[in-house]
Amino acid sequence: MCGIVGYLGTRQAAPILLDGLSKLEYRGYDSAGVCVMSNGELKVAKSKGRLATLSGLIDGGRAIQGTFGIGHTRWATHGAPSDINSHPHIADAGKIAVVHNGIIENYLRLKEDLVRKGKHFQSETDTEVVANLIEYYYDRLQDFPRAVRRAVGQLEGSYALGILCQDFPGTMIAVKKESPLIFGFGEGENFIASDVPAILKYTRKVVYLNDGDTVIFTKDTARFYDAFYDPVEKTPETIDWDISAAEKCGYDHFMIKEIHEQPKAVKGTLSPRIRDGRVVLDDVTLSKEYLEELKRIYIVACGSSYYVGCLGKHILEKTCRIPVEPILASEFRYSEPVLGSDTLVLIISQSGETADTKAALMEAKRQGARTLAIVNVVGSAIAKEADDVIYTWAGPEIAVATTKAFSTQLSVIYLIALYIADLLETIRPEEYDTIVNELLKLDQKIALCLTNDNVQKIRYYAEQYFKVHDAFFIGRNVDSAICLEGSLKLKEIAYIHSEAYAAGELKHGPISLIEEGTLVVAVATVDSLFDKTMSNVKEVRARGADVFGVTTEKHEAEIKKTVPSVITVPATHPMLQPSLTIIPLQTFAYYIALLRDCDVDKPRNLAKSVTVE
Ligand code: F6R
Repeated sequence: MCGIVGYLGTRQAAPILLDGLSKLEYRGYDSAGVCVMSNGELKVAKSKGRLATLSGLIDGGRAIQGTFGIGHTRWATHGAPSDINSHPHIADAGKIAVVHNGIIENYLRLKEDLVRKGKHFQSETDTEVVANLIEYYYDRLQDFPRAVRRAVGQLEGSYALGILCQDFPGTMIAVKKESPLIFGFGEGENFIASDVPAILKYTRKVVYLNDGDTVIFTKDTARFYDAFYDPVEKTPETIDWDISAAEKCGYDHFMIKEIHEQPKAVKGTLSPRIRDGRVVLDDVTLSKEYLEELKRIYIVACGSSYYVGCLGKHILEKTCRIPVEPILASEFRYSEPVLGSDTLVLIISQSGETADTKAALMEAKRQGARTLAIVNVVGSAIAKEADDVIYTWAGPEIAVATTKAFSTQLSVIYLIALYIADLLETIRPEEYDTIVNELLKLDQKIALCLTNDNVQKIRYYAEQYFKVHDAFFIGRNVDSAICLEGSLKLKEIAYIHSEAYAAGELKHGPISLIEEGTLVVAVATVDSLFDKTMSNVKEVRARGADVFGVTTEKHEAEIKKTVPSVITVPATHPMLQPSLTIIPLQTFAYYIALLRDCDVDKPRNLAKSVTVE
């Protein structure tokens, strides 16, 4: 969603802000703007559309001179995407400039009050209310930090704010509540940003602000305050991943780069946690006694992370013999789940900031359940709130559509399943060893799915099918769960109407939609169910569907008797098979989107981290 960058230093601010914002483009946005303090004036440039438009307006930043500034990419919530609604917003008397991520829930009430007090508004946004509220208090108190504090005390909702005051040229104030914000320490310069890639070129030393934190900083100093406005010391963390992780490195898109990074990401997630043939989860404190009392596991997440939960149900129930229920985070709080100390709530989130998922986590905690989060972004809100965290070491994921984070989340599910099954003795030792051995080979097998030959073959099939209007993904058991993710990939980046069904369910309704030229992607890797899935494939072929089949090498000859377009993946232990099956589905969606001329990395209407409910 929206992106924030702030800079105080000795270099020209505008080019740094534009560069930083370009690294946040992946978050999704519809307009952009910068405000630079120049000769005691707050100079603003903003425009609807892409960052390139803004950059053109201000000659790559050269047209606005000044070494202090804030920048923003906006994903519209209050008010349509427009120049006027873009951030930064300047208060009525021109003294305060604000960039904001999040939503101010009580903004209408505050706005009415400010209008009564004589403030004028230009935009429809909640952010302009924040700017005017701060200015209102500043006019009375003549104290920038106190004015911010008084105004923030009245805000309800979520916010990450970067604030400049015309009368304090070398000072910036940033405040965070339920919207991500980091502070970056430089040499004679300091930064704020919504995410690390924005400032990684300039510093590796960052602090992830907590909810309620305020930082008041100059180019040389930074004072941090907690939610009670008590001063706090913050020790910077050092970012150890490389800037190249956030660049395309010769690939046309981040998505295809991240697809190809999956062997490395999966290895990086698995191998430090497998020692001498045993799964070791150092950070997790689930004891045998606790697990023996466990009645149920809920897996709570959104989108692709939820689909990992759907796979998790198959994997954990089979291995650990504990009932597992995946629930969409947006539904969790309202479904009155049965929670207590005998329930484990597994939270899955790449960004660690998804508003629905975080709200579900807080509800689970409130009701006394133990929470274990699987998160990619270190220091994110969900990572901070959960009782235990297992990080997926996928590195930064930039493309809006997840690929490598999905694969690493699934890898963590395997680890948790083995860990619990081992403690509860619900797995035979030989089976445990076989799965661990296969886990250690998983990265190589994923790499085999991505050989040039295989990718070219998938591209060829994409050329056959990219004009379809409707697609159905069918499979059974884990194949049915992986179909959910394959189908989501296709619809979100290629804008093709696509649905996923358990193959056996087709004849209970959806088969009436199958007609000449409908695309059916049939996933058939589960040996014991192969023949049954093939029966369903024959049913759709008989009704004129074009079928693209995904199976293991062992079934290739058989499936080809019915389906001409087939891609095979190597076989592995059945529990791990989804990690291989998903690779051609991601790649297929990527090439179809490309052929349909879609903006693959930044699909329309979507945002990378969904911080509104
Ligand atoms: C789809 C996708 C989304 C996310 C969902 C949850 O490709 O990326 O469906 O999976 O928005 O996001 P996180 O995992 O950050 O909580």
